[in-house]
Amino acid sequence: MNKQELIDILSDNSRIEWLFKEADRVRKENVGDEVHLRGLIEFSNICKRQCKYCGLQSGNKEIERYRILKDEILLYAQKAVKMGYRTIVLQSGEDEYYDTDKMVEIIREIKKYDVALTLSIGEKTYDEYKAFKEAGADRYLLRIETTDKELYKNMHPHASFENRVQCLYDLKSLGFETGSGCLVGLPNQTIESLADDILFFKELDADMIGIGPFIPHEQTPLKDAEQGDFWLALKVMALTRINLPNINIPATTAMETLNPNGRIIALQSGANVVMPNVTSKEYRAKYEIYPGKICINENPEQCRGCIEGKIKAIGRTISLEKGFRNRG
Ligand code: 5AD
Ligand code: FES
Repeated sequence: MNKQELIDILSDNSRIEWLFKEADRVRKENVGDEVHLRGLIEFSNICKRQCKYCGLQSGNKEIERYRILKDEILLYAQKAVKMGYRTIVLQSGEDEYYDTDKMVEIIREIKKYDVALTLSIGEKTYDEYKAFKEAGADRYLLRIETTDKELYKNMHPHASFENRVQCLYDLKSLGFETGSGCLVGLPNQTIESLADDILFFKELDADMIGIGPFIPHEQTPLKDAEQGDFWLALKVMALTRINLPNINIPATTAMETLNPNGRIIALQSGANVVMPNVTSKEYRAKYEIYPGKICINENPEQCRGCIEGKIKAIGRTISLEKGFRNRG
């Protein structure tokens, strides 16, 4: 689709049913009925950045910070493997404690467990990414958040849009399966720019795209901003599926925060991945990127059982594979 077609569909609510059905059909035809589960370890909520929308940004002095050290990370990874996860995702704020050597050690250890490993730890240098790849990391998630440069600048004090784009192309060139994505409903975000976001994903040839609605957080500069719209976020996700047919698309936690059935609706509108949390309760509430995050009172076993039941109830199956992008 070209930009105008994307804009037309995004602004037209009469075609919403067609859109979700079509995205579901494209999903089934290209990546099948299997849902890939990724075991998510949120290992540090310490962050040096100041993204205006995010509860973990360094300016938030009220949040209780934590850092899970290597041995404990490995315990969660082992537990995830025992529960049947074939991919581990390590996510954190941009926490300088985990330098290249520390990350490389953790990557090497986890890669002994015969799993795919995804990192989601922010903007690093080419050489750092290269070291992570050489240590065995398979995938990397780095959302562009928005391709509207003006908005990007406004949302990310002291950060560079150009550098973020460069990071994504560096990851691609190093052979990572590269994930990106955007927020939907940021203040002053336009429909045109959401269309550009989808075109950017296509241009990058992203392997994974995560999309979620913006949810205002009390302890951020955007606390009084309006919340993003669940259905608009779903539309952006569905259009991403139609335009990048064989990529992996998670049903994001933020979707479920705004709609009690959000992840299942997403799985029926183009998504084929879910990323349940595998850390224990003590950390979950503290990784408060936005308020109302789901699963903060559950343990890893409960989440695993819960999501399995929901996936089976809609006639889908849980993949036993590592779930790389289906280029075949
Ligand atoms: N609402 C929804 N999603 C958010 N993220 C950060 N802050 C918020 C918020 N307030 C998303 C960003 C980031 C991902 C880890 O969480 O897109 O890339
Ligand atoms: Fe955590 Fe349902 S996935 S409780």
